[in-house]
Amino acid sequence: MSDHQLLAESLDYLKQKIPPKPAVAIILGSGLGALADELQQPTIISCNDIPNYPVSTVPGHAGVWVSGKLEGVSVLAMRGRVHTYEGYSASQVAFPVRLMAGLGISRLIVTNAAGGVNKTFQPGDLMLITDHINFMFDNPLIGETAPADQRFVDLHGAYDPKYIEQTKRTAKTLNTQLKEGVLLTARGPAYETAAEVNMTRFLGADAVTMSTVPEVIIARQLKMRVLGISCITNMATGISGQKLSHAEVQQTADSIKTRFIALMKKILTSIPNW
Ligand code: HPA
Repeated sequence: MSDHQLLAESLDYLKQKIPPKPAVAIILGSGLGALADELQQPTIISCNDIPNYPVSTVPGHAGVWVSGKLEGVSVLAMRGRVHTYEGYSASQVAFPVRLMAGLGISRLIVTNAAGGVNKTFQPGDLMLITDHINFMFDNPLIGETAPADQRFVDLHGAYDPKYIEQTKRTAKTLNTQLKEGVLLTARGPAYETAAEVNMTRFLGADAVTMSTVPEVIIARQLKMRVLGISCITNMATGISGQKLSHAEVQQTADSIKTRFIALMKKILTSIPNW
């Protein structure tokens, strides 16, 4: 089957399950999945049941899609993304975004856990992503392109400047401090060395993660407007001198949860007008 046929088959399945055209899709990063529990009248779909879907290779961690209402807005939340470090290509990792666009969703919020490279950041900060550096040595546009899809995608303003402004305004009304900066995505799954983090700082990065970029590139190819938020779960290697652990990343994400959920809910109240 061609990529196009695989996509059509998955969409046929999803269209029977999901109400037409949610206002926004949200990809929930490590430790931020609790937002999906807040959805009212939820329909929960196991990613295992979606034909052709790249399923997580971590046993017991199959992702879910939850569609429902939050603050009166119809939302599709994706919990548990797959990563290139599991052996998937960037194109496969971005497959869920092709599905979201295929469902007619035109707004995407991407979130992730990230290590702070900018020395003014602290674990527990939320960072609005203003731009990215793709350090994955892969690109989701490599491979087959449907005749109607662009091959050479423009990434200027990939993180929608209007969404960035709206989110800053929203955060102010909540008295939530928001950092902003450039996200560099590395392939992982090892955390970076101190020398690598130093290099990313020279390259202009404020935070490092292992996800997000493939999804954003495909979202832009398919003309979705994107808002990106990183949760700074730790300082990147060498910045604070502390050793990194996945447990620390999860703990900090957990402690940011309440602030993150409050911000997302407030964003949603105004998003239909964005
Ligand atoms: N580096 C890369 N990815 C991450 C980090 C980090 O320090 N923290 C959370 N995700």
